Amino acid sequence: MSIDLKGRSLLSLMDLSAEEIRYLLDFAIKLKAERKAGIRKERLKGRCILLLFEKTSTRTRCSFEVGAAQEGGVVTFLSNADSQFGKKESLEDSAKVFGRLYDAIEYRGYSQKTVEDLAKYSGVPVYNGLTDVDHPTQILADLMTIEEHCSKPLDQVKVAFLGDTRNNMAYAWMYGCAKMGMQFIACGPKELAPDPEIFGRAQEAAKESGATLTFTTDTADIEGADVVYTDIWASMGEEKEIPKRVKLLAPYKVTDELLEKTKNPNVIFMHCLPSFHDFETTMGEEQRALGYDIREVTDEVFNGPHSVVIDEAENRMHTIKALMVATIGDLSD
Ligand code: CP
Ligand code: NVA
Repeated sequence: MSIDLKGRSLLSLMDLSAEEIRYLLDFAIKLKAERKAGIRKERLKGRCILLLFEKTSTRTRCSFEVGAAQEGGVVTFLSNADSQFGKKESLEDSAKVFGRLYDAIEYRGYSQKTVEDLAKYSGVPVYNGLTDVDHPTQILADLMTIEEHCSKPLDQVKVAFLGDTRNNMAYAWMYGCAKMGMQFIACGPKELAPDPEIFGRAQEAAKESGATLTFTTDTADIEGADVVYTDIWASMGEEKEIPKRVKLLAPYKVTDELLEKTKNPNVIFMHCLPSFHDFETTMGEEQRALGYDIREVTDEVFNGPHSVVIDEAENRMHTIKALMVATIGDLSD
């Protein structure tokens, strides 16, 4: 079956079929190999991409900028502070103007509806660079990284996500696993259990692929996991929740003892980043003075032999580049 993603948006992995996700992964693997071999192409020559960020970013922004530049494309970066977007005019008006100027739009912010409305009104492909409830480009990089490090097909891989199981990463993982027929365990406190409606939607998709998605409060259930994944305990915009989260999530911190519960000597540790594993050095005076230990993973695990987090971060760029080229690029060679 030939896959054609030209003109398509990526608002959620739920919008793509397993075959389309497979195509993007294979394309990213090819682009990474090309890059390592020093092969230069200009598949985005003459293409202009808007990068609209209402929340901060390191990896996502840099991946779009570098990925576009490597293929001859041009980007405009607009942060919250730089434009009228969301302030002086309606989203509809902004989106229509962006659609006349740009070939595609990346959006990072709060509401999933904003990214959907940008796609609806702009008429050009829109890429979800993270909302409160999804982070699909991260999962593309994560799936690629799992394939590089686990010697089994994705539909035999078991992923255990520890921590806040109702955040954007947990939901994006549910969708990704549901599409690719994987085993997914969301492991966290019942107070932070997945939203039943979102979980139900992912479960429906799982029925088609043979994936299994479960929620548990018991860390013993991560036995057999190939991947242990975590994320920060309070996502962007939730900082005031930190005192409560530290209490709820301390038992789900990823430590060497926790990795041992997988009983899998080849387990890999993954994290979307940024991470507070070294928060004593990264936090400001004021936050340290609050005295909360917000480390979702220890330094030993983060920098240890099971960790693949830097490969994972690199793969953001290759997968995002594949997405841009597949949807707006020149695929003639
Ligand atoms: N993982 C990720 O999205 O990183 P940034 O917030 O730095 O973009
Ligand atoms: N859950 C995190 C992911 C960061 C990539 C956040 O939204 O802040």
